[in-house]
Amino acid sequence: MKVTVFGCGYLGATHAACMAELGHEVLGVDVDADKIAMLSDGRVPFYEPGLPEVLQRNLESGRLHFTSDYDEAAAFASVHFLGVGTPQKRGEYAADLRYVFAVVDELVQRLEGSHLLIGKSTVPVGTSVEIKKRIAASGTAADIEVAWNPEFLREGFAVKDTLHPDRIVLGLDPEGDTAAVTAQVEEIYATILAEETPFLTTDLATAEMVKASANAFLATKISFINAISEVCEAAGADVSVLADAIGYDQRIGRKFLNAGLGFGGGCLPKDIRAFMARAGELGAAPALTFLREVDSINMRRRARMVELATKACGGSLLGSNIAVLGCAFKPESDDVRDSPALNVAGQLQLQGAGVTVYDPKAMDNSRKLFPTLGYSDSVSQACELADAVLVLTEWKEFVELKPADLEPVVRKKVIVDGRRCLDPAVWIHAGWEYHGLGGTPRV
Ligand code: UGA
Repeated sequence: MKVTVFGCGYLGATHAACMAELGHEVLGVDVDADKIAMLSDGRVPFYEPGLPEVLQRNLESGRLHFTSDYDEAAAFASVHFLGVGTPQKRGEYAADLRYVFAVVDELVQRLEGSHLLIGKSTVPVGTSVEIKKRIAASGTAADIEVAWNPEFLREGFAVKDTLHPDRIVLGLDPEGDTAAVTAQVEEIYATILAEETPFLTTDLATAEMVKASANAFLATKISFINAISEVCEAAGADVSVLADAIGYDQRIGRKFLNAGLGFGGGCLPKDIRAFMARAGELGAAPALTFLREVDSINMRRRARMVELATKACGGSLLGSNIAVLGCAFKPESDDVRDSPALNVAGQLQLQGAGVTVYDPKAMDNSRKLFPTLGYSDSVSQACELADAVLVLTEWKEFVELKPADLEPVVRKKVIVDGRRCLDPAVWIHAGWEYHGLGGTPRV
């Protein structure tokens, strides 16, 4: 089949490359000409393991192309995926839908004949109806169906999650030809569906809400364990063992119960806020007030980390040298959007510490956002003369660190584990002062 994918960010670029990998002819579209030039040249504008290989392979096969030209896109295919960003509005909780609507408006005026517009972006419930209204108001003579097919990929696992998803959800418009749209989507995902991937068809509102609810649940799970970690800390209990123990209950499950610095990135924080804002617009605000608490527990982690670092530096950050290991919002990503690690690094600097950051992939993005922080090209350089070493993103490289790796360079043997990813016994037995966010277990 021939498909276009609008938006070539983390979601769209991955989706475009993976649709080509499934055997379709794909045109990725983005208004950012630099991004299009890079992708056309086989270079992924962000770090995503496995994606460069898929991109390269499919560019070479001739199935994958990129453009900034909407005329070309409108003429290329009759199925169009919408994968542009839906960031948080400045100064508000609501999602900013300007990019979604811009694509719809630009595309629709160029379409002739029958087309299917499949939304993938995370949007407030009701957006696809809004899109339908815009299409109607445009006066187009084209026959355009709207469907919603939310994406559940995680950064760092984007290729795997796209090609082997846990499920496919398809929201259909009851006023449209639901059977024909379902058949088209089944054809697009035929290879995936052949793996017996669950395929759920529903209405547009439910499909939109599935995504918002899934992210709200994941965020809640993380804040739940972080709230419990606060109590553990007060009670002298070990939240890591506790998470293992409750996680064995299959109704609970161990995943997303890692206590620490909490969630960040371009999805969970803004998605729970947009969900609350939309519930408010719908007159259902009280149903989601708990998400406010989820958000505030999460933000408290960052403040708590700063307190812990202050304690580790002997009660004052002034004049302390702090090494920050990790500034991406999570490992296997170079994304620093709403990164808890970077937020903490910035706060430490504001409070008078000298901060030197090292991250295996996120340094460039971080420099753009926080140019005043110090940056080093390696762990050992970052830790030179450090009064405290903070592990804020659990990259494998940091998890595997041994005390002897850092001992020749640090000024003080003090380590603060913001992700509870190190083995405290190893560090304590080597004579280090170890602090774990969420409590230091007895060893
Ligand atoms: C999240 C969802 O997991 C995806 O399913 C969804 O498709 C995506 O948002 C999206 O809406 O596009 P992502 O933001 O890539 O994916 O990252 P996650 O793996 O969910 O991690 C989010 C944050 O939670 C990270 O900062 C991570 O460090 C933190 N986290 C995760 C914890 O603090 N504890 C955990 O146990 C798990």
